[in-house]
Amino acid sequence: MDRLIVTGGARLEGRVAAAGSKNAVLPCMAAALLTDEPVVLHRVPDLRDVRTMAQILERLGVKCTRDGGTLVLQTVDRSQSEAPYDLVSTMRASICVLGPLIARRGEARVSMPGGCVFGVRPVDQHVKGLNVLGAQIAVEGGYLVSQVRRPLKGADMFLGTRFGSSVLATANVVMGAVLARGLTCLENAAMEPEVAEVCRLLNSMGASISGVGGHKLLVEGTSALHGAEHVMSGDRIEAATFLVGGAMTKGDVTVDGIDPTQLTVVIETLLEMGVAVDRGQDWLRVRADAPLRPVDVTTMPYPGFPTDLQAQFMAAMCVADGISVVTERIFPDRFMHVAELLRLGADVRKEGPQAIVKGVPRLSGATVMASDLRASAALLLAGLVADGETEIRRVYHIDRGYERIDDRLRALQGQVRREAQPPVEATPLDW
Ligand code: EPZ
Repeated sequence: MDRLIVTGGARLEGRVAAAGSKNAVLPCMAAALLTDEPVVLHRVPDLRDVRTMAQILERLGVKCTRDGGTLVLQTVDRSQSEAPYDLVSTMRASICVLGPLIARRGEARVSMPGGCVFGVRPVDQHVKGLNVLGAQIAVEGGYLVSQVRRPLKGADMFLGTRFGSSVLATANVVMGAVLARGLTCLENAAMEPEVAEVCRLLNSMGASISGVGGHKLLVEGTSALHGAEHVMSGDRIEAATFLVGGAMTKGDVTVDGIDPTQLTVVIETLLEMGVAVDRGQDWLRVRADAPLRPVDVTTMPYPGFPTDLQAQFMAAMCVADGISVVTERIFPDRFMHVAELLRLGADVRKEGPQAIVKGVPRLSGATVMASDLRASAALLLAGLVADGETEIRRVYHIDRGYERIDDRLRALQGQVRREAQPPVEATPLDW
């Protein structure tokens, strides 16, 4: 078990290349279940979640061969269609093997993902959408089970939660519909760039999806898909995390290899905070030399403000010059980072799905506990501006979504080191 030790005070300066998108590569890997031909993905980030997805795919008969940033995925055996609890429970994105398994094999047994620190995260829209296509999914012993044993049938549907669209449910249902008989019209599809990227990969595998990137997807089913080669796009959430770090440390940071048009609302928010933002075709640069201005953010489905940046921006608000309000509309309980930011001396008051953040002149380093991926990124950013040292424990959370984060922050002059977590010495008791 590793920990990160962050010494605050250094300005982040320099250029960093964005890694491939975590939230796009996971469903793209699952798409390999839809063909027996090789699916080759380039610029695949080296992350815990990518390894977990590969382990699940190997269990499902997909050979996963990695060579640097290239991953070759090929279905070699279709006899095993069970995605077990021990793997699925560690990563919710595993659920997106459900659609391709049923579409290609007519059967699936996928563990329900189970609990999450964000609170209840149902999969009803995944089940609803695939059942509209005829998947007949039932819940048995904590597993989503389908034994339809014939091609799915295209249909019209509206996919939606009380929070709006669902990213992975859209990807799952589209991967079900590409091999279905006939046309599927998917209303209220998620517009996240990661969903559009899955659709582009599927189209390069011979699928026929139109309306990519919009709320209405039309999928004309086909009888078979072939292999394809695809270069992953840059991770917009990782990129923005580095940019927020540059802003908080009054630094000068450029992130290369991303599509700035995927971060419009984020750029606007940084500008509102008084940060200078420059952009190019595939890069973004932030410069800041004054205390940040407060700002209010409300998380929404894309192209709204991403919930996956809520924690990182809250860290920035903690040292802004005034009061900011965060409203979390996607995961109303996604505030695990608040208690840890308070340990660093922040002034944050949580009220239901909102947090009122009163900027403080300085944070002071402390030992804090990471609870989830983006919360741990927020603690890392806060540690970069806190006085003294901040020790972040359970950094396996951050390794799930940020490739070699400590190396890359050091390359930007950040003072971050990774150490093994010493075992906690139990106090001997004489009874
Ligand atoms: C994806 O999760 C991302 N994960 C999440 O990023 C991200 O926070 C989320 O989308 C929202 O942008 C991946 O892509 C791997 P949703 P997903 O279904 O698809 C409710 C990160 O930090 N809902 O769009 O699971 C749900 O509870 C991760 O990288 C239902 O009610 O999220 C939530 O309130 C964390 N029923 C809302 O919809 C359903 O069947 C949106 O969730 C599905 C979802």
